[in-house]
Amino acid sequence: MADQIKATNIKWHHETVTQKDREANNGHEAAVLWFTGLSASGKSTIAQALQAVLFEHHCQTYVLDGDNIRHGLNKDLGFSPEDREENIRRIGEVAALFMDAGMIVNTAFISPYRADRDKARGLCGERFIEIYVHCPVEVCEERDPKGLYKKARAGTIPEFTGISAPYEAPENPELTLNAAEHSVEECVGQVVAYLQARGILKKL
Ligand code: ADX
Repeated sequence: MADQIKATNIKWHHETVTQKDREANNGHEAAVLWFTGLSASGKSTIAQALQAVLFEHHCQTYVLDGDNIRHGLNKDLGFSPEDREENIRRIGEVAALFMDAGMIVNTAFISPYRADRDKARGLCGERFIEIYVHCPVEVCEERDPKGLYKKARAGTIPEFTGISAPYEAPENPELTLNAAEHSVEECVGQVVAYLQARGILKKL
C-alpha cells in the first residue's frame, strides 16, 4: 500500500542517543518477537506472560496486540487481504521504532501472509524473531474464547482466518511453540531460553 514516501522536502535527523546507547543502559539487546498464529492459538497470552517475566527482571519491554491496536492506531482497518497487509505494514514500522528505542517488543498479530511478515522482518533486521504459535485449528475452534469460530462457521463473520480466509504458516521461523501441548509457562520458558542462547538476554 504505502511503500513510497509521499512527502517532499523532508530530511532525516540524526539521533543524539542511539539504539546501542539504550541497550547498554538497559543491560539487554533490543529485539522484535513476532508471534504469529491462528486466533485463539495463544499469541496474546504468551506475549503478555513473557512481558511480565521480562519486566520483573527489569527489561524494557512492550506488547503490541492485534485486538488492542485495532481499537486505536489501526481502527480504520478491517480483515480484507489489503487491510491485513496494511495492518502488518504499520506494525512492522512501529515494532522497528520500539526496537530503535532499545526495547524487547512482543507483537501478537495473526499476520497470516508470509510476504507481509517478511516485509516486517526486512524493516526490523536480524533481531526480528519470528515465533510460530502452533495450534491446530480444531483446538483453536474448541477453545473459541471469543465465540468467533462459532460465528465464522455460522457465516456471520466473513473472511475468518483458518475457516474462510488463509493462514500461511512460517516456513523457517526462529522458534515454534507447540501451544496445544505445552503450557503458557513452558512456552515462555522456551522463548527466554532462545533469547539467552542468542545473547539478547543475559541469565535472568
Ligand atoms: S491480522 O490478520 O490482521 O494479523 P489481527 O491479529 O490484527 O489480524 O486481529 C485478529 C483478531 O481480530 C482476532 O484475534 C479476532 O479476535 C479478531 N477478528 C475479527 N474478525 C476476524 C477475522 N475475520 N479473521 C481473523 N480475526 C478476526
